[in-house]
Amino acid sequence: MTQRKIQILSPTFIDSVTLPANQDLNQLFPAAQPLALEIGCGIGDFIIQRAAQQPTTNFLAIDIYNKGCYKTCRRVDESGLTNVRVMRMEARYLLSHFGFADMLTAIYINCPDPWPKKRHLNRRLVNHTFLTQMLYYIKPSGDLYFITDVEDYAQQVAETFPTIDGYSNQLPSPYTLELAGYPQSKYMRRFLGQGLPIHFQHQQRQADFVLATENVPAIEMGFRNRHTLEG
Ligand SMILES: C[S@@+](CC[C@H](N)C(=O)[O-])C[C@H]1O[C@@H](n2cnc3c(N)ncnc32)[C@H](O)[C@@H]1O
Repeated sequence: MTQRKIQILSPTFIDSVTLPANQDLNQLFPAAQPLALEIGCGIGDFIIQRAAQQPTTNFLAIDIYNKGCYKTCRRVDESGLTNVRVMRMEARYLLSHFGFADMLTAIYINCPDPWPKKRHLNRRLVNHTFLTQMLYYIKPSGDLYFITDVEDYAQQVAETFPTIDGYSNQLPSPYTLELAGYPQSKYMRRFLGQGLPIHFQHQQRQADFVLATENVPAIEMGFRNRHTLEG
């Protein structure tokens, strides 16, 4: 049985179907402020806390999950936050269609789908190609946070960062089990409540690093963006 798609009427929601091809994502917000992106916002626990902590940053929260976008919008509207917009959008699709150099002050990836089976490991969103692409979109000294409950995903990503020129680790070790002031997402809270560790990684684009447009790897058509978002 297919689930009925909930229509999202919230002013926080940006319907990607209505966006012109050359839309500048900064223009979606009432105030001109630095723009941060959360990939896979779920039902919005993280973004409503982070946006309240940082009212002078605009936050675009994306997810491919319609009900998650609906719930995130509802919570943003209830909170009165004006610096959040939500789109139902696949991460690589968003960046390949609307991304430009140095556009983001921060990227947040909290508990991405782990794809634990060996034959599905290539479906993981965060890999060498993806992290290299992000250096193009993050502005100099901008942040990338990768948080996961899955130890081997944490290790895979921690081992990948040093193989890419342009990142600078902001933590005393490749990853830590705490990050002061970092809001908890629903999945983080769930796993911590079960006594399981969360692995935090915080990297920055080096201030003097430039990734020339011709060296940006092409967006991979991953498992997620091979599927239609209808339904
Ligand atoms: C395991 S849940 C974690 C949700 C939330 N970040 C949290 O920590 O509570 C992963 C979320 O990422 C979304 N997602 C997975 N792949 C995505 C992609 N390529 N682009 C955008 N969202 C994605 C899923 O729909 C799901 O809501």
